[in-house]
Amino acid sequence: MIQPMKDDYYLDPRVAERYDRESPGQPGDVEFYAALARDAAAAGHPVLELACGTGRVSIPIAREGIRLVGLDRSPAMLDVARRASLDLDNVRWVEGDIADFDLPERFGLVFIPFRSFLLLTTVAEQKSCLAAVRRHVVPGGRLALNFFNPDLAVMGEWLTSRRGSLQSLSPLRDSASGHALRRWATRSYGPADQSLDEVRLEDEVDDAGAVISRVYRNLRLRYVFRFEMEHLLALSGFTVEALYGWFDRTPFTNASSEMVWLARPV
Ligand SMILES: C[S@@+](CC[C@H](N)C(=O)[O-])C[C@H]1O[C@@H](n2cnc3c(N)ncnc32)[C@H](O)[C@@H]1O
Repeated sequence: MIQPMKDDYYLDPRVAERYDRESPGQPGDVEFYAALARDAAAAGHPVLELACGTGRVSIPIAREGIRLVGLDRSPAMLDVARRASLDLDNVRWVEGDIADFDLPERFGLVFIPFRSFLLLTTVAEQKSCLAAVRRHVVPGGRLALNFFNPDLAVMGEWLTSRRGSLQSLSPLRDSASGHALRRWATRSYGPADQSLDEVRLEDEVDDAGAVISRVYRNLRLRYVFRFEMEHLLALSGFTVEALYGWFDRTPFTNASSEMVWLARPV
C-alpha cells in the first residue's frame, strides 16, 4: 500500500507545464463562469477566480475585456498563466492561499471552478475561505463554485475490492525529452475525515523501454456533501441562489455527478 503524504501535486513545475494539455476541464464550465462574469462586469465590477491555476478559465474571461484577478498558491501554475496572458492588461495574478487572503478590490463575482474548494481539507480552512470571499464580494454579488457529488458506490469499491490497487491513467509524452510517461494512480478514502488521498505514480520510459525516472505525487482533498455545503454557506453569510447538477443549469438530482453552486451574500 502506498502511503499518502503531504499534498505537493500542483507545486511541481512539470505538472504545471502540461496542466492545460492534461486537464481540458469540464464540458461547459468556462462558458458557465464566463456568463456570470459578464453579469458582474455589466454591473461595473471586476471578478476573482480562486485557485486559478494556469488561467484555463480566467484567461478566456479576461480576453472578453472583463477585469479579473486570479489567485493561486502555486508559483509554477501562475507562471504558466502569466506567460499566456502577457498581452492582457486587465488581469492580475496573485500568489496566495484561498483559505486566507486580503485583496484591495471588491468583486461582483468570486468563482472557484474545477473542484478546487475540495482542496481545503479542514472545516477551519473551508470557513476561513468563505469568510474571505464574503469580505471581498460586493452586496448583490455572487459566489459560484463546483465540485463532485460524492459517489458512494465508487468510494465503497476503493474501501474494499480496489483498496491499494493501481488504476492505469492515459499515457502522455514528455514534451522536452519526447519519452513516454506511463502513469498510475491509487486512491485512499478516509470516511472519518472525508479525505481522499490520490497518489499518482509516473514513469518516464525511454525508447528501449528503460525506466529513466519514477515520480510520486500526492493530492489530498476533502469531499463535501450537499447539505454540509448548504450549512457552510449559511454559517458564512451566504444564501443559496441555485444548486445545479451541471453547467447547463439542469437541476441537481440523485443522478447528478456534479454540484454547481450559486450563492449570494445575505
Ligand atoms: C484543479 S486545479 C484548478 C485550476 C483552475 N481553476 C482550472 O479550473 O483549471 C487546482 C488549483 O488549486 C490550487 N490550490 C490548491 N490549494 C490551494 C490553496 N490553498 N490556495 C490557493 N490555491 C490552491 C493549485 O495550485 C491548483 O492550481
